Parts: sequence; structure tokens; C-alpha cells
Amino acid sequence: TVVLASASGSLVSGKLTVRPMGDGVHLTGEIGGLTPNSTHAIHIHEKGDCSAADATSAGGHFNPAAQPHGQADHGAHHAGDMDNLVANAEGVAKVDAHASGVTLGGGAPNDVAGRAVIVHASPDDYKSQPTGNAGARLACGVIKTGR
Ligand code: CU
Ligand code: ZN
Repeated sequence: TVVLASASGSLVSGKLTVRPMGDGVHLTGEIGGLTPNSTHAIHIHEKGDCSAADATSAGGHFNPAAQPHGQADHGAHHAGDMDNLVANAEGVAKVDAHASGVTLGGGAPNDVAGRAVIVHASPDDYKSQPTGNAGARLACGVIKTGR
């Protein structure tokens, strides 16, 4: 699971479940406190450290294969790149996100356990380097496997 706590003075928080699926991991759950009908980047970041008020302590996008930033399942991309979230009219995003080329637990270089999930203020444009021009970090949580 991942419990996302607000960062950068936002009211954004949520809880996600992470499961191995296909060629990677799948994140499901809900994130609330977003602007109604807004679109937001969500990524797995390198360090499971959400201690900084602006969550910069989580480092950059998880990128064990040294790839450019991009879109999951569309050519070269960071292992931590996932598709944007869309909030509904109540400011809640139902998360159904996939990160490809990663594992959950086991300690391989592409293991996402112990790393951070971050929700950003802006959408990911899937091309600007190295962050997709996603803006401030609104919420941060560490991926825990429960073992
Ligand atoms: Cu990010
Ligand atoms: Zn990226």
C-alpha cells in the first residue's frame, strides 16, 4: 500500500494499493483534495523519503535503466513514469495506473518497494526532460509491501 500525505501546502491525500501485474505494477485507489476536473501527473520517484515540505526529498523519477522521461508503454520512458490522473467534479481521482518494467519486492534494481509515489500540480506532457513539466509535488507516500 501507499498512504499519500499532502505536500507543498496542498490538501491532496489518498491511499493506493500496489500489485504486481503483467510487465510491471498496478496502482489502484483514490486520491482526493484535487481541483475538480483537473489533470495531474503521478510518478514513482527514486527515494522513499517524503520528509521535505515540498517532497523534493523523494528525488527524481525512478529510473534504474537510465532512460529518458516519457510515457509508460509508449517507447523509452523512466520506470516510474505513469499516465496522468483525472479528478472528477468532486476533486477525487480514481487511480488505475500502471508502471511497466518494474517489480514489487525482492530487491532487484527495478524494485519499487520503499520508493515514493508523488502526485503533481500539473499534467505530465510525457516529453519534457526530465520531469514532464509536472510542476509542484502535491502529495507523497512510500510504497510498503507489508513484509
Ligand atoms: Cu513526479
Ligand atoms: Zn519520468
